[in-house]
Amino acid sequence: MEPLQHDKLPRHLAIIMDGNGRWANQRGKNRVFGHTKGIKSVQVAVEEAVRLGIPYLTLFAFSTENWNRPTEEIGTLMELLVRSLRNEFEKLLKNQIRLEAVGAIDRLPTLVQQELKHVIEQTKNNDKMVLTLALSYGGREDLLQAVQQIAAGVKNNIISPEKIDQSIINKHLYTRKLPDIDLLIRTSGEQRISNFMLWQAAYAELYFTSVYWPDFREVHLHDALLNYQNRERRFGKTSEQIKA
Ligand code: IPE
Ligand code: IPE
Ligand code: MG
Repeated sequence: MEPLQHDKLPRHLAIIMDGNGRWANQRGKNRVFGHTKGIKSVQVAVEEAVRLGIPYLTLFAFSTENWNRPTEEIGTLMELLVRSLRNEFEKLLKNQIRLEAVGAIDRLPTLVQQELKHVIEQTKNNDKMVLTLALSYGGREDLLQAVQQIAAGVKNNIISPEKIDQSIINKHLYTRKLPDIDLLIRTSGEQRISNFMLWQAAYAELYFTSVYWPDFREVHLHDALLNYQNRERRFGKTSEQIKA
């Protein structure tokens, strides 16, 4: 296999972790079994990303639309989240990983919020990698809440309308501390964004794999990264301009 070039890794890697339910159903189990098995894949992705030296890893774990799932499934997902935060805490410290969360965090159960707050606070000085969990996150909602904040700023004479530019919008997004997404991976074979980071993925390289999330391992991450390294990111320019 072609080796990875460490100087050509994405600065910000994001993953839409999809396919837990189908993975479980294929095995005659309920969807929750798939979510449980998906935790191992999260561990693998986080450890491999930090080992490779990727500075920002963002995982889409629960969308605004996922609130429409059966109450029982939501409950289990929230329990798994609390349990994982507790179990992984030591490893985050050991690997110097800083945890962040983006989304409508105030909609999450109190226990999840408390656990998140605790881990975020305790890991805030870690500097090897920023691991961001997108929780109760929606790309449209992110833009909407930014517009609301900016409008309030205009009303209170803190922002003048003609000064509103891309950097001001960036500063009001949930993701204000994150750079743009370079590589966006989605597992499970679905080829859609599902209301993930619409603004932040404007120029992301998209990579779709048919692997269900619970089966996702180092080799799959490497395949995605290799594929990314062989792309030419032109940002609207010509190939000749990029090569010059
Ligand atoms: C991803 O797997 C996990 C979440 C969205 C929380 P799914 O639960 O969407 O699994 P599929 O897509 O139904 O197989
Ligand atoms: C997207 O997966 C959300 C997460 C992975 C957290 P979904 O399974 O919710 O997406 P759709 O509904 O199939 O587009
Ligand atoms: Mg899904």
